[in-house]
Amino acid sequence: MTPEPTLSVRELLGFYLEAGVDCALSEEPVNRLAEPEFAPSPRDVLPAQPRRPVAPPLPLARSEPPAPDAAIASAREAARTAPTLEALRELMERFDGCTLKATATRLVFADGNAEARIMFVGEAPGREEDIEGLPFVGRSGKLLDRMIGAIGLDRSKAYIANVIPWRPPGNRTPTPQETQICLPFIQRQIELVDPDVLVTLGNPSTQALLGTREGIMRTRGRWFDYDTGTRTIRVLPTFHPAYLLRSPAYKRLAWQDLLAIAKALRGA
Ligand code: URA
Repeated sequence: MTPEPTLSVRELLGFYLEAGVDCALSEEPVNRLAEPEFAPSPRDVLPAQPRRPVAPPLPLARSEPPAPDAAIASAREAARTAPTLEALRELMERFDGCTLKATATRLVFADGNAEARIMFVGEAPGREEDIEGLPFVGRSGKLLDRMIGAIGLDRSKAYIANVIPWRPPGNRTPTPQETQICLPFIQRQIELVDPDVLVTLGNPSTQALLGTREGIMRTRGRWFDYDTGTRTIRVLPTFHPAYLLRSPAYKRLAWQDLLAIAKALRGA
């Protein structure tokens, strides 16, 4: 039998990286396969004691995240009461209902100009965004900048945010529960920015904000109405720049979407 080759540390780290494991979640590694250390039971070392009544279990520590339904309800309540974007950001910094916050480095709230007439919404921060605390600063962010630039805009004339403001570990897809918990925050952010045109980037953002199950191939390039509760905003879904990096042939369609956005901004 051929012995298994031993992996070097570099190869092992390379393997982890390819599998999406690119950050450590705690200071010390935990060997979950190790046998628990032997500790003699008090019964082995102490003389028998008279039986005492067993104490009831302690209530859950306050640091435990609330159950998903409670987290969604408290996110809704909190977001509803934020009078300004700054208040919303502070409230999200303090919100503990989404477990993604525990593994992310920081909150990625938004970038750009809150007075802009156009707002772009992506899915969730990736590694670079998590490090810098700003949305779309990695490879797909560079392409987004070029897309915005192609219609004569830049980050000083656009506002950019994500449905999920904390990086999912290893860039995994956010769960439907995580999306539902974070949704009230981006909805309030949209209401407060109050743009004339909202652009949803890719499927997850489009489906979450428009409440549709239709895929991006069917929704992109079509105008939808988004009701903030106080006003109706025009929404145009288009491809996520990360998708365009993988499938450049779709840039032609994305360009059509950008022209439609530019025309709407001229006419609105
Ligand atoms: N992809 C997103 O959806 N958002 C970011 O901020 C970065 C990459």
